[in-house]
Amino acid sequence: MTPPQNSRIIVTDGIERLAMEGADLFQRTAVASVARTGLFTVAVSGGSTPRPMHRLLAEDPYRTGVPWQFTHLFWVDERLVPVTDPDSNFGSAERDFLNQLTIPAGNIHPMSSRKPPPAAADDYEHELRRHFSRFSNAEPVFDLIVLGVGTDGHTASIFPGDRSAEETTRWVTAVRGGTPYVERLTLTLPILNRARCLVYLVSGSEKAVVVRSLLTDASAQLPPQRIVPQHGDIIWLLDAAAAELLPQDLPRFIRKE
Ligand code: 6PG
Repeated sequence: MTPPQNSRIIVTDGIERLAMEGADLFQRTAVASVARTGLFTVAVSGGSTPRPMHRLLAEDPYRTGVPWQFTHLFWVDERLVPVTDPDSNFGSAERDFLNQLTIPAGNIHPMSSRKPPPAAADDYEHELRRHFSRFSNAEPVFDLIVLGVGTDGHTASIFPGDRSAEETTRWVTAVRGGTPYVERLTLTLPILNRARCLVYLVSGSEKAVVVRSLLTDASAQLPPQRIVPQHGDIIWLLDAAAAELLPQDLPRFIRKE
């Protein structure tokens, strides 16, 4: 199997360099989107891997280089725990960068854990529809979606073999699973497949086996392999440990020293 035509694999030395590559991509995409439509609509992930990048975004050059006043921040998924809980993706983002930046409050769109999961999923879908209704075609096209990958091959909170992976109409669905094993909300494949740019941030040797499967074994049929945006780019930002089992002759494989 070769990765889809619209994908690139960028391998960096370590997590610091990975975070910088991610933050550079975030800023470049933000500036280009605002120039094109006046707004930058991005969805970020939780988990540990994106946190160094999030922390960098609160520092220069990203602090002043990203047009934050025109940026709308959504979440790819959320663990339905209180914001003060260490497992809260929104809570972590607040602590890592949002609290240090000036972003209009109306531009920050966390997933809420206050209602029962199905109702919370409905609310977030309405919020997404309200946001995208400002664009002529009201299509839910994110300028950038930042994703991670679990060792089991899940992404967002779409777990292999789970019904969330079979959702074909809803933009947001409620699931129970993952680590921590809690109620969650997640964006679904239909909306992930509409993104203008998807970037996977993956770090650590414990991810090397799943990364090899995802990029070389079509039969694995893992959720990330079902995310191939028709009009978008896929960027795999990997550190050397996560990429250690990848064949070096993979097409569009770029090593950044
Ligand atoms: C979540 C995440 C999830 C994450 C992967 C990787 O809320 O759990 O969005 O999809 O990206 O589990 O997590 P790590 O980066 O911690 O390995």
